Amino acid sequence: MSLVILQVRNIQYRYHDGTYALRGVSLDIKRGEFLAILGPNGSGKTTLLKHLNGLLKPADGEITLEQKPFAHYPPKTIFQKVGFVFQDPNDQLFAPSVWEDVAFGPMNLGLLRNEIASRVDEALSLVDMGLYANKTIDALSFGQKKRVCIAGVLAMKPEILVLDEPTCGLDPAGVTAIMNLLKELNGRHRITVIMATNTVDLVPVYMDRLAIMYHGNILKTGTPEDVFSNIEEIRHACLELPQIAQLMQILRDEDNLHMDSLPLTVGEARRFLMHRLNGVFTKENIY
Ligand SMILES: Nc1ncnc2c1ncn2[C@@H]1O[C@H](COP(=O)(O)OP(=O)(O)O)[C@@H](O)[C@H]1O
Ligand SMILES: [Mg+2]
Repeated sequence: MSLVILQVRNIQYRYHDGTYALRGVSLDIKRGEFLAILGPNGSGKTTLLKHLNGLLKPADGEITLEQKPFAHYPPKTIFQKVGFVFQDPNDQLFAPSVWEDVAFGPMNLGLLRNEIASRVDEALSLVDMGLYANKTIDALSFGQKKRVCIAGVLAMKPEILVLDEPTCGLDPAGVTAIMNLLKELNGRHRITVIMATNTVDLVPVYMDRLAIMYHGNILKTGTPEDVFSNIEEIRHACLELPQIAQLMQILRDEDNLHMDSLPLTVGEARRFLMHRLNGVFTKENIY
């Protein structure tokens, strides 16, 4: 089985009004990874993600799924294998009730009634919305709507989950809950997860790899350690380092605190500082 599940080859896309949104984007997405597409507003994240399940078609270049061009597959197969969660749940949800909305995809696959019911129950319980099956969509909070959107896609049993800014508009507890859910779907259920975000702080905590987008191009891909080690490139893309990394960078560059690599998360910074402070606060220093 190949490592690369989705391959984006030099795609270009231009909207009807003439805006060039993608200017030759190439990206290999590896089976089982949790990839962030990080970029400022207008950099082309949504346009790129919509190409990953065929919602948009490139003007030039191509995308392959498991080494075969999209054109090789019936559109239904792409929709089943690559689930797409819109940024705004109101663009995705349309049925009157939660249950009907989540059942829509499996019904379209022509599954038997029992199979549909068991998929809906399973998907709703995965996103912790089992008790809301009979609620109307209008009665849900924004965060609950996001969960129902994710359930609707999970009911298709996708191999790849593509989410457009899934934490946008959520409160801090909601952000943590969604990110932990995605981490679990990626880790335990082995779903490849690709999410767009402009929240740099999330990336080193949850993701294996990220691609930086700017002005319709991918500027760089790599691990958070690789990508955040070059501050100039990050600023060039109109982004900042994660807040913890900003503090550690000031301690390193202005206060001359030596560090081999820049800690990017609270956990990494804590380990580094405790290690250094243990050296300072020995018994001799205290007494
Ligand atoms: N429907 C559209 N019609 C015309 N231009 C669009 C449309 N949607 C997006 N764009 C433009 O395409 C570029 C990329 O947008 P988008 O993919 O939405 O970026 P992001 O998701 O990173 O904010 C921007 O310049 C944006 O203004
Ligand atoms: Mg967007």
